[in-house]
Amino acid sequence: MQNKIITTLFSFLLSVGTGFCADSAGSNHISVFEKYVSKAVTTDETARCLNCHASRQIKLVESWEKTKHAANQVGCFECHAAEPNDPAAVPGHFGFCVKLPVTPKTCGSCHTEQYASFASSSHALAFDRIKNNPIRQASPIVFETTCASCHGNETTLKRGKAVDESWPNHGIGRINTDGSRGNCAACHGFHEDSLERVRSSDTCVACHSNSFSPAVQAWKNSKHGASWQAYAKSADMNVKGFVSLNEPVMRPDCFVCHFAAAKEGHKSTHNPSERLSWELAALKATHTDNWGDKRLMMQETCRNCHASTQTEQFYRRLDALVVETNKIVEKLADNSTENAYKNNKIKSLAIKSRVGAAMMSPAHRVEAIEELLEQK
Ligand code: HEC
Ligand code: HEC
Ligand code: HEC
Ligand code: HEC
Ligand code: HEC
Ligand code: HEC
Ligand code: HEC
Ligand code: HEC
Repeated sequence: MQNKIITTLFSFLLSVGTGFCADSAGSNHISVFEKYVSKAVTTDETARCLNCHASRQIKLVESWEKTKHAANQVGCFECHAAEPNDPAAVPGHFGFCVKLPVTPKTCGSCHTEQYASFASSSHALAFDRIKNNPIRQASPIVFETTCASCHGNETTLKRGKAVDESWPNHGIGRINTDGSRGNCAACHGFHEDSLERVRSSDTCVACHSNSFSPAVQAWKNSKHGASWQAYAKSADMNVKGFVSLNEPVMRPDCFVCHFAAAKEGHKSTHNPSERLSWELAALKATHTDNWGDKRLMMQETCRNCHASTQTEQFYRRLDALVVETNKIVEKLADNSTENAYKNNKIKSLAIKSRVGAAMMSPAHRVEAIEELLEQK
């Protein structure tokens, strides 16, 4: 009872400005917490969150305490405060208005460049592109637990509570209740900000290892993957800035080619499409817009470790194989709807062949071409 009075008083005093809102029935789940005092120096608001949450989610708080966020007073309140009109907001949370989903809009209020770059990527559009898939209408639960766990879903919440199968969702193109698209945590995780984590191919494996995107397996089978496996342990994965050249070892993994600065003086990107000359994940591959410039940018990356002739020859062969695969697919594909299953099979084999070529896996190329030639 005493707690209740104190909380109500607090909420009355604090119910002004973003992140605060009037108390409601939500406050009746107070319980007695064992006191745990976090050593982190925080804002006054976050200190109050920690009063309760430090003892409750000890492991979560410990991992946050080790981050640059904690060192820079970016705490619970700074990320979880909600606008009162956001459907994800839990109103009256001991005087605060909080929400569980932390969206690119929140991260982007501090990391503006990364936000803009990510927002222009196909990652941010991964749900939009499949939202009309018949599976979504036929069975929301099947959609959520398959397609949406990688591509994302349109999350619908009401006063902080899930109203259907769309929450929780951690897909990369999730549509958030505050209007923003995507999910930074799909790669960065919930409470870590380590570069080591996000630069590891393990970050990409959860999504890029299926029949439409066998990129991780193809890369692991390549000389690049082999070289990485041999040296990764001795590399400091947290070095800031332009890694490819500042490291003692050659480490050609996913982020080096698709995200890291292409050369000294350049910035890293959050839009991997900026360096892709082909749209490979389709029945028939087509060139991307302005593909010449995009290819030149990727070649800058290759040149950090290779001679130009090696790189140019690689692309000549990639182009030839993509054109050849397109020809085979053209003969096999049948656009009638009865053959949707067969076409999907052909599509995934065509992708396997091309992604095998792009990521340099001889095994993927040979298996895919053999299987394609067996199709009738
Ligand atoms: C008086 C104690 C107390 C304070 C102060 C407090 N919380 Fe909580 N919070 C709780 C309890 C209890 C829960 C329920 C925990 C559970 O579900 O296991 C909770 C749940 C949450 C949730 C999850 C909501 C959901 O929908 O499940 C979030 C997010 C949250 N708190 C953030 C915060 C933030 C941010 C602050 C500071 C601005 C804060 N809390 C302050 C006790 C508190
Ligand atoms: C840098 C931003 C950031 C900070 C700081 C932060 N969080 Fe979070 N938190 C997130 C993200 C992102 C998620 C994942 C939610 C989502 O799906 O969008 C999350 C999820 C959570 C969850 C649910 C986790 C689960 O697995 O059930 C809780 C509880 C939570 N945060 C509490 C806290 C508390 C307590 C603090 C302060 C110690 C804190 N957060 C600080 C970004 C942050
Ligand atoms: C209130 C501002 C703020 C918010 C919100 C915020 N950050 Fe940060 N972030 C910072 C600051 C400050 C640093 C430390 C920068 C430094 O040391 O160069 C940082 C560091 C980082 C780093 C490490 C950068 C490095 O060079 O090591 C990553 C990654 C990161 N944030 C991601 C996120 C993500 C993802 C979210 C949302 C879930 C988020 N941040 C939310 C302010 C914020
Ligand atoms: C394990 C994660 C994962 C699951 C589950 C998944 N996808 Fe994908 N999907 C991907 C990735 C990664 C790509 C990108 C391939 C590329 O661009 O090379 C992709 C590409 C696609 C594409 C082609 C690119 C585009 O946007 O037009 C379509 C269509 C697609 N997926 C539909 C689906 C549907 C429908 C489901 C559910 C039946 C599904 N996916 C399930 C990860 C997944
Ligand atoms: C949570 C799932 C998820 C994670 C994690 C993820 N991706 Fe993706 N990625 C996707 C999906 C889904 C697409 C397809 C988007 C579309 O075209 O609709 C995609 C597309 C791509 C594309 C093709 C872009 C284009 O324009 O065709 C590249 C390259 C890519 N991802 C690289 C990466 C790398 C590198 C990582 C790891 C650092 C990564 N992704 C992590 C799900 C993910
Ligand atoms: C040595 C550089 C390099 C590395 C390392 C690398 N890639 Fe690639 N990746 C490429 C090239 C080159 C292409 C094709 C570029 C083009 O279209 O011009 C490509 C294409 C892709 C595509 C297909 C995009 C589409 O068109 O649909 C995806 C997805 C992808 N990479 C993901 C990954 C992932 C995940 C990893 C790590 C497991 C990785 N890549 C490692 C160079 C690399
Ligand atoms: C597809 C995976 C992926 C997603 C999604 C993602 N990041 Fe990153 N992020 C990375 C990688 C990889 C790096 C390391 C780049 C490097 O070292 O050059 C990185 C680095 C960063 C850094 C360190 C500074 C820099 O630019 O190198 C910040 C800050 C950051 N990300 C914020 C964000 C924010 C904010 C979002 C959401 C808007 C986000 N990230 C979404 C993969 C991702
Ligand atoms: C960080 C350094 C690094 C980057 C960046 C890099 N590579 Fe490599 N590459 C290597 C290493 C290491 C090997 C293995 C050489 C060996 O076996 O000694 C290799 C091998 C190769 C091979 C030979 C493969 C085979 O199966 O024989 C080709 C072709 C190649 N790279 C092309 C590229 C292209 C194209 C790019 C840019 C898209 C690129 N590389 C980016 C380090 C790199």
